[in-house]
Amino acid sequence: MTTEANKKGLAGVSIGDSRLSLVDGAEGKLLYSGYRIEDLAANAIYEEVVHLLWKQRLPNTQELESLRAEIARMAEVPNAVIGQLMQYPVDANPMAVLRTAVSALALYDPDAEDNSLSANWRKASRLTGQITALTAAWPRIRKGLKPIAPRQDFNIAQNFLYMLTGEEPDSAAADAINAYMVLLTEHGMNASTFSSRVTISTGADMHSAIVSAIGTLKGPAHGGANTEAMKMFMEIGELDRVGDWFRQEIKEKGRRIMGIGHRVYRAVDPRATVLRERAEALARNSDTPKWFDIAEMLANMARQDPYFIERNLYPNVDYYSAIVLYTLKLDVDMFTPLFAMSRIAGWTAHIVEQMSDNRLIRPSVDYVGPMDLPWVALPDRN
Ligand SMILES: CC(C)(COP(=O)(O)OP(=O)(O)OC[C@H]1O[C@@H](n2cnc3c(N)ncnc32)[C@H](O)[C@@H]1OP(=O)(O)O)[C@@H](O)C(=O)NCCC(=O)NCCS
Repeated sequence: MTTEANKKGLAGVSIGDSRLSLVDGAEGKLLYSGYRIEDLAANAIYEEVVHLLWKQRLPNTQELESLRAEIARMAEVPNAVIGQLMQYPVDANPMAVLRTAVSALALYDPDAEDNSLSANWRKASRLTGQITALTAAWPRIRKGLKPIAPRQDFNIAQNFLYMLTGEEPDSAAADAINAYMVLLTEHGMNASTFSSRVTISTGADMHSAIVSAIGTLKGPAHGGANTEAMKMFMEIGELDRVGDWFRQEIKEKGRRIMGIGHRVYRAVDPRATVLRERAEALARNSDTPKWFDIAEMLANMARQDPYFIERNLYPNVDYYSAIVLYTLKLDVDMFTPLFAMSRIAGWTAHIVEQMSDNRLIRPSVDYVGPMDLPWVALPDRN
């Protein structure tokens, strides 16, 4: 039940049942179909989690290999779409590029308008591979480099790095990308997942629902926060500037710390705990350790500040993932497309779940405008 106080932003409103994830905001706990994300991030390859979300159970060895191979086989982006990418302005926002390219993929997908369950699973596999290929291709294309086709023997995380660099992926980097993707792939009724479910609930197709989701993820209150967090660390620039920056920008000017705060978590976001450890380990072994130190010092200042304490504001998933992705030498404006390529398994799982027991998602709004105004002819208006 909603109250006047909390219905703004649909806070606390449930849209129904889901078997995909439990987000326990009070305890700071996240389960994917029953499994703790800490265990999955430490042990599973992304495709295992894809299988878990799509089929509601972990795969055996044969099922995992079959899914891995299927996604790798379907990851190739049609030449027509690669040709379009080459025409896009090189300074375009990468999320706008991804949104447009995924929309274009529908035009070349043999199952595009087929809403049967079997077609939707094929599209889910194809989109999972292709969105990874697009996210690797764009930073190359905009630098004038040729995109690289996926390798058939790699898993998604390895293939992403291979398609990005053209080199055999370093195992530590592939492991970090894999853990990032596992942690980001599903998160209850977040804004982008909600918009994908709204779109599919009208009977529209999977590509349309994913385009809705990508457009929603783009905003800085959602997936755009990882890029904004890194820009903020770079604006601070040096460890000895953190204190002054916090006082001037946050306390005096009232800016928000990007990557802090969450609609659901009133405790530490469990994904941030795992990513913090990863970020620290990667940063200590890199030539840019200062970014982790800056992030850590800023988080500590917030943790001790009454304003942040009273509002239960802690680092969320985007805060330390910015450091992880920067240390892996990804372009800062590509961080949000990486979020999208990780979330694709969750989005597609929710789309199929919505379709399995669909009712048009169509909430109401309370009209508060004027009533029964007299019609005024065009020449008589001021
Ligand atoms: C995520 C976010 C949009 C959640 O929004 P929400 O649930 O609607 O919460 P609100 O925006 O109403 O914020 C609640 C209070 O905390 C404050 N607050 C929230 N996030 C804050 C932040 N990052 N820095 C400073 N203050 C913050 C708000 O100003 C508000 O204060 P008030 O009660 O005095 O008005 C919000 O925390 C935010 O903007 N965070 C930064 C962006 C980000 O990291 N997004 C990724 C989320 S995974």
